[in-house]
Amino acid sequence: MIRRKIIAANWKMNEDYDQGIKLFSTVINLMDDEITGDQQVIVCPPFIHLHSLAELSKNHLQISIGAQNAHQAESGAYTGEISARMIRSTGAEYVILGHSERRLYFNETNELIAKKIDTALLNTLNIICCVGESKKEREAGQQFEVLKKQLTEGLFHLDEMQFAHLTIAYEPIWAIGTGVTATAAQAQEIHQFIRQQINTRYNEQIADNIILLYGGSCNPKNAVELFYQKDIDGGLIGGASLKARDFVDIIKVCN
Ligand code: 13P
Repeated sequence: MIRRKIIAANWKMNEDYDQGIKLFSTVINLMDDEITGDQQVIVCPPFIHLHSLAELSKNHLQISIGAQNAHQAESGAYTGEISARMIRSTGAEYVILGHSERRLYFNETNELIAKKIDTALLNTLNIICCVGESKKEREAGQQFEVLKKQLTEGLFHLDEMQFAHLTIAYEPIWAIGTGVTATAAQAQEIHQFIRQQINTRYNEQIADNIILLYGGSCNPKNAVELFYQKDIDGGLIGGASLKARDFVDIIKVCN
């Protein structure tokens, strides 16, 4: 089974309007000059950039735009929130859900993430769903248990058709923004586990087809070993996606 590689950028709460346009334009120009493969690139900026970036990437079929969060309700009196439908209307095609920073700072539970996924799917968004264990959980040897619970409670209510719109990113919390990356062996072990769980819940074909990304202190150097593991299909990149040169060098790993 040959799965297409995906490199996704999570800008988090960085880049004002002008900075965002400049960063994205530089990424597009570098990609035009240097990217020869068919890897897919998904850029997930703050909401204020979605429409402009979707417009700028219109003629670049390799690049898609995604949001970093969406509300679970269709619409209504939720001051300050953004709905899946609003995101879709900007031209964005993806949304990141279940990121550990949302679980940690905004108390998002597996149950809430499951609701957000349902609403995003109803609004024809593709989803990058993040899972991953904390440092404490890994030290206690609980990573498999934690992941199984996140998958079961957050994603496994979906039927096969819905599940096909999902990409899963394994982001160990201890590796996010810390400069400490999971070793390729550690990441591969978890990705293989996730694929097995999907095989058990759905079937072999779905498990073979699903794209599994690694996230956590990825950079152009460590990406090579990580992305060539059997069950790792690319990365979800935080800090390094804010530097056009580094981000495109990471994309290039999959040329
Ligand atoms: P860093 O690449 O900065 O560790 O962030 C990873 C991440 O959280 C992507 O969603």
